[in-house]
Amino acid sequence: MTARTAYRIAAIPGDGIGREVVPAAIEVLDRVAARFGFDLCWEHLDWGCHRYQRDGAMMPPGGLDILTGADAIFLGAVGDPAVPDHVSLWGLLIPIRRRFDLFANIRPVRLLPGLASPLSAAGPDDLDLLVVRENTEGEYSEVGGRIGVGERELAIQGSVFSRHGCERILRVAFEHARARRGRLAIATKSNGIIHTMPFWDQISRELADDYPDVTPTWYHVDALAARLVTDPGSLDVIVGSNLFGDILSDVAAAIAGSLGTAPSANINPAGGAGPELFEPVHGSAPDIAGRGLANPIAAIWSGAMMLARLGEAAAAAALDIAIDATTGAGIRTADLGGTASTAEVAAAVGAHF
Ligand code: NAI
Ligand code: MG
Repeated sequence: MTARTAYRIAAIPGDGIGREVVPAAIEVLDRVAARFGFDLCWEHLDWGCHRYQRDGAMMPPGGLDILTGADAIFLGAVGDPAVPDHVSLWGLLIPIRRRFDLFANIRPVRLLPGLASPLSAAGPDDLDLLVVRENTEGEYSEVGGRIGVGERELAIQGSVFSRHGCERILRVAFEHARARRGRLAIATKSNGIIHTMPFWDQISRELADDYPDVTPTWYHVDALAARLVTDPGSLDVIVGSNLFGDILSDVAAAIAGSLGTAPSANINPAGGAGPELFEPVHGSAPDIAGRGLANPIAAIWSGAMMLARLGEAAAAAALDIAIDATTGAGIRTADLGGTASTAEVAAAVGAHF
C-alpha cells in the first residue's frame, strides 16, 4: 500500500470576510481531499490587522521563514478600516509574493452557470477570460518618497519594469494564449506613460516572434477596460503590468457578476522559490464582514486552483464542476442576487463530495 499524500498548507484567513470565506473553503477542500484520497494538513496562522494593532506587525518576526516549509499558502484577504491599506498590504501580502518570487498572478474569469452578467445577453460561452497580472514589480514599487511640507510637499513614485520581469510574465501569457484560443490582449499605455510602457510594448513585440500561433493585440488600458464591458467575447487571455492587471481583473470579475466569484493563483512557473499563494481577488469587504453574507466561491475556486497546482488535477476538476452545479442550482449569496449564507453556499459545494 502506498502512503497517502499529505500537503502542508499554511492558511492565513487575514481580515474581514477573509475570516469567513477561508474556513468555509477549508471545509469544502477537506471533503474533496477525503474523497480523492489525500490529506490537507492546515497550519492556521492568525496574521493580519488585529495582530498589527496588538503587536505592531502584520506577521511575527521571521513570518516568511515559517511559510517556507509549506507546500502552498491559502489566504483570505488583508485590510481593515482601522489600519492604513498600504501598511496592511505591504506588511503581509506583498512581502509573501516577493519573497517567494510569485511573479505570475493568474486570474480566471468565467460566467458561472445560472448567473446573469450585467451584460445580460452574455451566457457562459461568451465570457471566459484569463487575466495574467505581473506580480512582483511594475507600479507597485518602493522607489520614491515624500519631501517638503505644506504647499511645497510632494510625492514621487517610481515604476520598475525590468527586461527580466517583463519577459517572464509575457511568456506566461503567450503560453496560456497558446493553450487556449490563440489570442492575447496586451494592456499598455504607451501614449501617456512614455518610458516603461514603450519598453513593455517592445519586449512583447520581440517575444511575439516565438509564438506565431498566437495573435497579440496591443490595447491602451483605458480602451481595454471599455472593451471588457462592451465586447468581452472578443477577448481571451489578457496580460497586464501589476497595476493594470489588478484593475482589469476587477472589471472582468464585475462583468461576471461579482468580485465574490473571482479566484487567483500567485505562482512562479519556474518553481523552486518557495510555496505558491492562492487567494480570492477580492479584499476584506469591511462593508459586509461578520454577517455571513460573503460569497465563498472565490475562495473555494482559489482552493481548486491550489489543488490543481499541487498535482491533484482530478480533485480540482471535480471541485470546478461542483461550483458550477451550485450556482446552476440557484444557490447564491446576496452579491449574486440570492439569499444563501456563506456557510450554505459552501455546504452546497461540499455536498458533492
Ligand atoms: P473589496 O474587494 O474588499 O470589496 C469591494 C466590494 O465588493 C465591496 O462592496 C464588497 O462587499 C464586495 N465583495 C468583495 N468580496 C465579496 C464576496 N466574497 N462576497 C460578496 N461581496 C463581496 O475591496 P475594497 O473595498 O477596495 O477593500 C477593502 C479592504 O480590502 C481594504 O483594506 C483593501 O486594502 C483590502 N484589499 C485586500 C486585498 C487582498 O488581501 N488581496 C485585495 C483588495 C483589497
Ligand atoms: Mg485588486
